[in-house]
Amino acid sequence: MLATTAAALVAALLALAPTPGHAATLIIDGYDFSEYPPADQPPPINATWNAKYDIASINLPNVPVKNPLNSVEEPPCPLTSATCDWTCFNCTRPTDDVACKDHNTWALSYDDGPSEYTVPILEALNKIGAKATFCILGSRALAHPAILRRVYDAGHQICVHTWSHRFLTTQTNEQIVAEFEWTLRIIQQVTGARPLYARPPFGDIDDRVRAVFAKMNLVPLLWNRDTFDWKLASANSGFDAKWVTGNFTNWIATAGSTSTGFMSLEHDLYPQSAGQALPALDLVSKAGYKLQTASQCIGTNPYLSVVSVPIPVVVPVVGSNTSPVGALPTGRSAGNSGNTNAAAARSPVLSVLAGCVLAVLAVHAL
Ligand SMILES: *[C@@H]1O[C@H](CO)[C@@H](O)[C@H](O)[C@H]1NC(C)=O
Ligand SMILES: *[C@@H]1O[C@H](CO)[C@@H](O)[C@H](O)[C@H]1NC(C)=O
Ligand SMILES: *[C@@H]1O[C@H](CO)[C@@H](O)[C@H](O)[C@H]1NC(C)=O
Ligand SMILES: [Zn+2]
Repeated sequence: MLATTAAALVAALLALAPTPGHAATLIIDGYDFSEYPPADQPPPINATWNAKYDIASINLPNVPVKNPLNSVEEPPCPLTSATCDWTCFNCTRPTDDVACKDHNTWALSYDDGPSEYTVPILEALNKIGAKATFCILGSRALAHPAILRRVYDAGHQICVHTWSHRFLTTQTNEQIVAEFEWTLRIIQQVTGARPLYARPPFGDIDDRVRAVFAKMNLVPLLWNRDTFDWKLASANSGFDAKWVTGNFTNWIATAGSTSTGFMSLEHDLYPQSAGQALPALDLVSKAGYKLQTASQCIGTNPYLSVVSVPIPVVVPVVGSNTSPVGALPTGRSAGNSGNTNAAAARSPVLSVLAGCVLAVLAVHAL
C-alpha cells in the first residue's frame, strides 16, 4: 500500500518535471533560457539546422568520426597526417587563424567561461584599455549571462567554444552543428552578436570539423602559445602556477626570433588559472605589446551579424534564499572534462520536486 502510494506519487511528480529542451521556466539574470538543453551534455541535434547548413553535402569518407563518440578524453590519432589533424600533427590549413599578423601585437584569449573569475580579468583589461578574446561555452553562458554581456559590452571579442566541450573529432557532423548552434543562439540572445570565430575544445580539429565550420560560416581560431593553465585545476597534475608567467616571460624574451605576433591560450573558468591571468597580462602589457582581439590583429570582423538587444531589467525576489545560478553547474571536472551531474543540477524545479518526494516518503516511512 505504502509502496503503491509512493510509486504513484513519484510518477505524478515526474510527469510534472521538465524534459530536456522543454524545461520549466528558467530565468537567469532576467534572460529566459527555458528552451536550452541541459548544461555540459552534448545538446540535441536539430534537423532544421542540419538542412539550413547543408550538412548532408559534406562527403569526407576518409576523415571518419573518431571513437569513443562525444569523448572528453583525447581520442587515438589517425595513422596518417592526411586529415590535417591539429591535435595530432600540428597541421593547419590556410583557413585556420593561429597568429596575429604583426610582430608587436598579442591576442590574449580566455576559454571556457564566462565564470565569476572572468570579472577580475575583465577589470584588469579594462583598466589598461586592452582588448582580448573570450571563447564562450554555451553551458557557462547559461549560468552567467550577465558576465558574458559585460565582456561583450566592454568591447572584447566573443568567440564560440561549443555547448558541452567534447573532442569535436569524436562528434558527428550533426552533433557539431548542435554544439555550435545552441551556443551561438545563447550568445546572440544575450549580446545580439553572432560570432564568426569558433575555438574547437582542446584544439581538436581535422578536415571534417573544418568542413562543418565552413558550412556554418565559422572560422577556426587556434593559437600559437599555450599556457596549459587548465592543468592547475586538477589536483594531481603537478602543474606549477609559476609556469604560466614563466612561459609568458620566455615568450617575450624570445620574441625577436618570431615572424608573426602572438595568440595565447588561457582559461577563465577556474580560480587557479584565472588567478595567473593577471600577472601574465601585466608582463605582456609592460613589454609594450599592442593587446588586441584576435579579429583586430588578423584584420577581420569578429561577428557575422550584430543587432542591439536590451539588458533585461532584473527584479530582485525579496525573501528568496534560492539562487538559480548556484543551482547550475559551474565547472567541469579535473582534466578539462565534462560535468556528469549537470542534468540534475540544471532544474531547480526538479530538485524541489525531488525534495518533496523524499519528504513525503520520509513521512510515510514514519
Ligand atoms: C529546430 O530548430 C527550429 C529552428 O530554430 C525550431 O523551430 C524547432 O523547434 C527545432 N526543433 C526541435 C526538435 O527542437
Ligand atoms: C607541435 O608544436 C609544438 C610547439 O608548437 C611542439 O611542442 C610539438 O612537439 C609539436 N607536435 C608535433 C606532433 O609536431
Ligand atoms: C612552461 O610551461 C611548461 C608546462 O607547460 C613547464 O614545463 C615549463 O617549465 C614552463 N616554463 C617556465 C620557464 O616556467
Ligand atoms: Zn576549452
